[in-house]
Amino acid sequence: MAKLWAGVTAGMTDQLADDFNSSIAFDCRMFRQDIRGSMAHAKMLGATGILAPEEAEALVQGLEGVLNDLESGALSFDLQSEDIHMFVEQELTKRLGDLGKKLHTARSRNDQVALDLRLYLREEIGAIQKLVKALMEALLEQAKAHKSTLMPGYTHLQRAQPISFGHHLLAYCMMLRRDLGRLEDTQKRMDVSPIGCCALAGTSYATDRRLEAELLGFSDIALNSLDGVSDRDFCLELLSALSILMMHLSRLAEELILWSSWEFKFVELSDVYTTGSSIMPQKRNPDMAELARGKTGRVYGDLMALLTTLKGLPLAYNKDMQEDKEAVFDAVDTVKLCLGVFAPMVRTMRAREDNMLAAARGGFINATDLADYLVKKGLPFRDAYKISGRIVARCLAGGTVLEELSLEDYRAYSPLFDKDLFEEIDIRACMEKRISEGGTSLASVEAQIRSIEEFLEK
Ligand code: ARG
Repeated sequence: MAKLWAGVTAGMTDQLADDFNSSIAFDCRMFRQDIRGSMAHAKMLGATGILAPEEAEALVQGLEGVLNDLESGALSFDLQSEDIHMFVEQELTKRLGDLGKKLHTARSRNDQVALDLRLYLREEIGAIQKLVKALMEALLEQAKAHKSTLMPGYTHLQRAQPISFGHHLLAYCMMLRRDLGRLEDTQKRMDVSPIGCCALAGTSYATDRRLEAELLGFSDIALNSLDGVSDRDFCLELLSALSILMMHLSRLAEELILWSSWEFKFVELSDVYTTGSSIMPQKRNPDMAELARGKTGRVYGDLMALLTTLKGLPLAYNKDMQEDKEAVFDAVDTVKLCLGVFAPMVRTMRAREDNMLAAARGGFINATDLADYLVKKGLPFRDAYKISGRIVARCLAGGTVLEELSLEDYRAYSPLFDKDLFEEIDIRACMEKRISEGGTSLASVEAQIRSIEEFLEK
């Protein structure tokens, strides 16, 4: 079939070229946004007198019909169409005859596709924000249940100092809160309408771009038509925000995987979020967490792909830009998939307080407090550090821990040691006395919980 753009050529391209050129297989998901955009365009054409009011009205009705039929399944996409924009226009013209051909007055697919993508991603960001909040709520719920559950905190994956499991989980709430901030930022800068920039230079028709933007819920319009049609910063910002979000999910995934291992057994994931092995009957594999960790790579890949596509493109529109959609769609789908499974997986996981405590007891995570004890008695920190190190070495050699040595044992290292020492190196006390703002004490954890709760209520 001859293309809608047949003119200077017969519009009869080779089938292979058609297939290569076509984007309908993936941009058809923007059909609602495309039709909504066209309705606003028809209304603007009517309001400005570029089309007669009855014509505009008939176009809107016709578009409504196409939308309803696509929604109900009465109409399906014609994969021979070049893209969703062509498909909708063709279908409209089938229904309305010559009037359908007037819809594309004073616009181009270049501003149309830029518009559709913004409308589409605006909604998807909203959906992602909801999913992030659901995960934050799941983490918060667990954090509240484990405000005082003692676990070893790690640096270099070596047991370091005692913390509460709640404190650890709240760290992820803080990350996700920043992710929401980045998504909100992306939304703000995306809130600019490109429609009316037309092919690249604007138009000689007396259009009303601000009316059209308002009808579509934008707070501003792109002020330079070349920029309006060639800007994909909003896609890149979204992909960056999603990459960082996935990096956070991947870190959480990694911890869940480690914690589920027999070497740790700090948590047990619910049976419905683990899988078995086809040959090893004892296995409960944390596949969901592993997949999320793995899928992080694809989202980074999507960001890199689009950055690379856009690099070096001259102004304004170039067909290369058709590659933008698969990258953002893939990233959006992947992030939604991961967030969707993480919230219930976190909510239903069981913390093994017994194993956390056992690990906390055997790890000398009170060694800093032992040194601090001597400092409080007047010894310079460096000396206190050395003495404490020697005591730890002795415990290691004797297969014991700091809490088990006697006061005499301690006195052999320094006369500053007294009975009050044991209070100071009790691991629970060590956790509780870290009262600095943002620390692991109960009061600080509760303050963090309140802060996240207030944020989520807004
Ligand atoms: N399918 C195209 C895309 O996704 C729409 C814009 C095409 N514009 C053009 N002049 N060929 O980018």
